[in-house]
Formats: sequence, structure tokens, C-alpha cells
Amino acid sequence: MSTATTTNAPPLRVEGLTKRFRQGNSFIEALSNVDLTIRKGEFVAVMGASGSGKSTLLHVMAGLTRPTAGKVLVDGQDISAMSDYDLTLFRRRHIGLVFQAFNLIPTLTARDNVMLPVLADRGEADSAALDKLLGQLGLTDRGRHLPDALSGGEQQRVAIARAIVGEPSIIMADEPTGSLDSVTGQSICKLLKRLCKEQGRTIVLVTHEPAVAVWSERIVVLKDGRLLTEFKTEPFSDLHELAAQYQDVVGMGPAGEGQ
Ligand SMILES: Nc1ncnc2c1ncn2[C@@H]1O[C@H](COP(=O)(O)OP(=O)(O)OP(=O)(O)O)[C@@H](O)[C@H]1O
Ligand SMILES: [Mg+2]
Repeated sequence: MSTATTTNAPPLRVEGLTKRFRQGNSFIEALSNVDLTIRKGEFVAVMGASGSGKSTLLHVMAGLTRPTAGKVLVDGQDISAMSDYDLTLFRRRHIGLVFQAFNLIPTLTARDNVMLPVLADRGEADSAALDKLLGQLGLTDRGRHLPDALSGGEQQRVAIARAIVGEPSIIMADEPTGSLDSVTGQSICKLLKRLCKEQGRTIVLVTHEPAVAVWSERIVVLKDGRLLTEFKTEPFSDLHELAAQYQDVVGMGPAGEGQ
């Protein structure tokens, strides 16, 4: 497998990304010709109505699903051209993904679920670092429980711990605060922001909530599988203004139309 990294390449770039799914005798285009570049250390929120293609975009960018057309470049490397084996190794080292549906392994304890990617990659895990991470996520007393014995919010935090434990350079999270109360949700946002600011990690987060998106630097809005628009959060220091801006843009037609 090629390990060459293009100098100064952005951590994440997609070009002409299209994903079609077969549905019975027809096809549904979940993503249509999406171009997006994410800078190193940037915190980007992806928003859009249900069914607009947010999870599909994350899964294709994370290399879990192959695009129908277009390219996904991670650190300048075209992951869509990698073999399944190379892609699995590459993903494990570079990308941490928090699934919308958590995807925890039901027969493993919370602690073992979190440790799994590190064990798979390096064969051993740093127990003290793991304890610290579980503590930061309020899971210290939950490590020995199976996912079934955890609340939805606890399972979500285990899924977040699993995505960040291996210190990937890119963290992608699909509605990571969807099952959390607002205080816990805000503490997760704070943690992600810290990973971004202090460690230069790149964050792509899908959310429906302006109170979560406001933690990002840039909001990318999808509509019907297309990139409708994007805007920086910085001018909107007030959450209500940001929510109003988002409502304004989702009322618009697809990008480029009528302009
Ligand atoms: N595996 C699949 N097979 C067929 N259609 C799919 C598949 N995955 C997604 N789709 C369709 O693609 C479109 C985009 O789905 P996606 O899950 O990306 O939306 P989303 O923006 O994440 O929605 P939500 O906010 O509800 O999570 C939807 O119409 C969905 O039904
Ligand atoms: Mg989704």
C-alpha cells in the first residue's frame, strides 16, 4: 500500500462525490456531485433535513461505503482506489467514526468496545489513557457493563470514546449528541473542540441542532444529496442568529439555482 502523503494536502477533500443506492427497480441518488475541502484542524458541521445525505456523506468520506462516482482524498491519498484490506488499515489509523446508531458490539463490555480499535491496530492498549478518556466522558463506573445495560446516552459516549481513543487525525461523528441531554451534549462539544484546538485534529460532525453546530467553524448544508450552501459560524456569536441563518438557507433552492 502506498504510504506517500501529498505535502500540504488537506486532511479531507471530496471531488464530484456521487452515491446511488438501488431501491427495488430504481435508484436513489443520496449524494450528487459533492465537492468539499476540509482544512487541517478545522471543525465542520454538516446539517440538512432528514434524508439529505448527511450519514451517506460521512460513510463515504470515512471509506465505509464506496462512492458511485468521484473521489475521496484523505491526506492527499485517494481512498476510493484502495483495496478493502488497505482501506481497513488506513481507516483505523486515520479516521475515527461515531456512528449514528452507535454500532457497539453487544458481547463486549463498554471498556472492551472502546479498546477494540487500538487492540486491532497495535495489539496493546494504554490502560491509564483509557481510564482518563472514560473519566472525561463520565463513564468511569460504566466500563464493565455490556452495551445492553447502558442508557442510550452512555452508549453514545462509549461510541465517542471508541472513535477518539486511537488518536485519529480526523474524527467524524454522526449526530454524536442526539441521545444526550443538553448539558452532556455541550460537554461532548467542548471535548471535540479541545481535540481540535489543542491537538490539531480535524472534526466533521453531523447535527440537526444549532446549539451543537455553533461549536464548529463552518456549517455545510446538504439538501437532496447536494451541497446547498456553506457559511462560517464566526459572525453568529448568538445562537439564535445562527439558527435563523440556518432556517433561511434551508428555505432556498439547490446551490446555483436562480443565481
Ligand atoms: N443503504 C441504503 N440503501 C438504500 N437507500 C439508502 C441507503 N442509505 C441511505 N439511503 C437513502 O439515501 C438518502 C440519504 O440517506 P442518509 O441516511 O444519508 O440521510 P441523512 O441526511 O443522514 O438523514 P437523517 O437525518 O435521517 O439521519 C435517503 O433517501 C435514504 O433513504
Ligand atoms: Mg443520518
